Amino acid sequence: MTQTGSFVSKQKRTHYAGSLRSEHAGSTVVLMGWIDGRRDHGGLVFVDIRDREGTVQVVLDPSLPAMAQAKELRGEFVVALRGIVRVRPEGMTNKKLKTGAVEVEAQELEVLSEAKTPPFQVNDESVGENLRLKYRYLDIRSERLNGFLRKRHEIVRTVRNYLSDDGFIEVETPILYKSTPEGARDYLVPSRVNQGTFYALPQSPQTLKQLLMIGGIDRYFQIARCFRDEDLRADRQPEFSQIDVEMSFVDQDDIMAVNEKMAQVIWKKFRGTDIGPIPRMTFYEAMNRFGNDKPDLRFSLELSDLTADVKTLGFKVFDDVVAKNGVVKGLGVEGAGEMSRAQIDKLVDMAKKSGAKGLVWIKGDANSTAPGAMTSAVSKAIPEEKVKALHKKLCPSGNGLSLIVADTFDTACASLSALRLHFGRELKLIDESKDKFVWIIDFPLFEYDVEGGRWNARHHPFTSPQNQHMDILKNDDQKRFGEILAKAYDLVCNGHEIGGGSVRIHRSDVQAAMFKALGLSMEEAKDKFGFFMEALSYGTPPHAGIAWGVDRLTMILCNTDAIRDVIAFPKTAKATDLMSEAPNAVSRDQLIELGIRLAPGVGEATASQPAAPTV
Ligand code: AMO
Repeated sequence: MTQTGSFVSKQKRTHYAGSLRSEHAGSTVVLMGWIDGRRDHGGLVFVDIRDREGTVQVVLDPSLPAMAQAKELRGEFVVALRGIVRVRPEGMTNKKLKTGAVEVEAQELEVLSEAKTPPFQVNDESVGENLRLKYRYLDIRSERLNGFLRKRHEIVRTVRNYLSDDGFIEVETPILYKSTPEGARDYLVPSRVNQGTFYALPQSPQTLKQLLMIGGIDRYFQIARCFRDEDLRADRQPEFSQIDVEMSFVDQDDIMAVNEKMAQVIWKKFRGTDIGPIPRMTFYEAMNRFGNDKPDLRFSLELSDLTADVKTLGFKVFDDVVAKNGVVKGLGVEGAGEMSRAQIDKLVDMAKKSGAKGLVWIKGDANSTAPGAMTSAVSKAIPEEKVKALHKKLCPSGNGLSLIVADTFDTACASLSALRLHFGRELKLIDESKDKFVWIIDFPLFEYDVEGGRWNARHHPFTSPQNQHMDILKNDDQKRFGEILAKAYDLVCNGHEIGGGSVRIHRSDVQAAMFKALGLSMEEAKDKFGFFMEALSYGTPPHAGIAWGVDRLTMILCNTDAIRDVIAFPKTAKATDLMSEAPNAVSRDQLIELGIRLAPGVGEATASQPAAPTV
């Protein structure tokens, strides 16, 4: 038996287990990896050795002295072995394995480390996600996660090469920094040296990349880590990565062209497809037709505007909404006319979750005179002929299910978009074989916060208004803020916003007008962005930029719906790490050093710890 510990220092690995093929037959190989499974057969022990490239079958003869440990092997033990590659006997090949034509006849074996019985089998996809997140390192051994992480690496490498070759310079920007507004809450880090003050982790390197343009870098990129304390969803994480890009002396079309080319290069490499020129759609058109500023264009099922049609119905619910400048919008779902009341009630709930006060539905065959051929939520309130006409407008076949929402434009769009996406999935309308890109342009510069009674920046406060609307901003004509369009653009793929950016304000007087429009007093603006305003006044080139979400991009290219799948150590929906149990309480001493005392009722610091040794 090899003496424990001697193997790795004497013999080097020659191959990855998963890379062996029939052309290696006859070679002596040294493999190192994990035991994936073990079977005892007529005195011989068969194990699968797994490493990052896959698994290969190894045959061990425990009667050989160098093989004495063969009987002790268990799942996830780490072993090193030397052996000869053999073509498997006729009829014994395993077509499911890439290495299935061969096996390795072991001559020497050493257990490098033993393993406890793992809480789940690596590669068992039926295991609950929480358990897999707690033992993330075991899940990373799986072919699936390993594959995702490797693809992510390849994507980032492709992007780095593409941008570097196109004259972009990669610059690192600080993580301990000052608040950068991207619409989420900041993660704060208390300063020990300057007690009572805090760094904010960057929500994005927005101001920093603009400062690099002022610094003359001209073309910048960074694979930047961003931190946002916001409600998490399937495609959001509290910390995530961006491909962050900024260019000087360019306008909107220039930056869109560079990024469109990058999308083409990425898709060619990872999907083998030519995506061609990416179409453009205005924000208004996207909302009006799909109810969403990130429309999934892999299926049609468009919304219709019924505001003009409902004027003659004499239906008070619709009339009241229209009188208040609201809209009536509808969605016709052919092929869904057979839905039960219980199923329709679920749709009503879905619409309400997106803010709608109600959902008018009409279902069945409007062409038929048979009783019950068409039923509707409004049959008592609207004459049958008019209900029929509405139904036929939304479902020309006369069959199907018509869904109608009367509300503000935003709410009607949001609720019908949720229903559209639901039916897209349910009725399998989505053509999964294609990726559909679209640039969304002409976003409004502001959005009105009804609760706060003020205007917020829709993208961020550094985004330039379009030239024809500049005066509305400069003249502080608040009544017309809703009209201002921004030089902003989002890159959307399959219903995901994979990137977003804008042409920036490069004049300090315009930037000051923007801060004023957002309700920031001179003092607040100076306190938060004084350094930035000052920088703008020292000669700022016109500049524009964009940031892509690396995680979302990788999700799409890995064909997964969960952003956690493409992040090595992700957080849960509650922003916790199940493996390390972060965030966690800290010791009283640490808090004292930082000058922080916890408010009553918000948890306790742990007991004081002995000081850590100085390294
Ligand atoms: P924005 O906020 O639109 O723009 O972000 C750019 C892209 O980052 C991704 N993204 C996220 N991915 C995962 N989890 C999140 N919580 C998350 N939030 C955003 C999205 C999004 O399109 N500084 C500007 C960019 C610019 O103007 O240049 C910015 O950060 O894919």
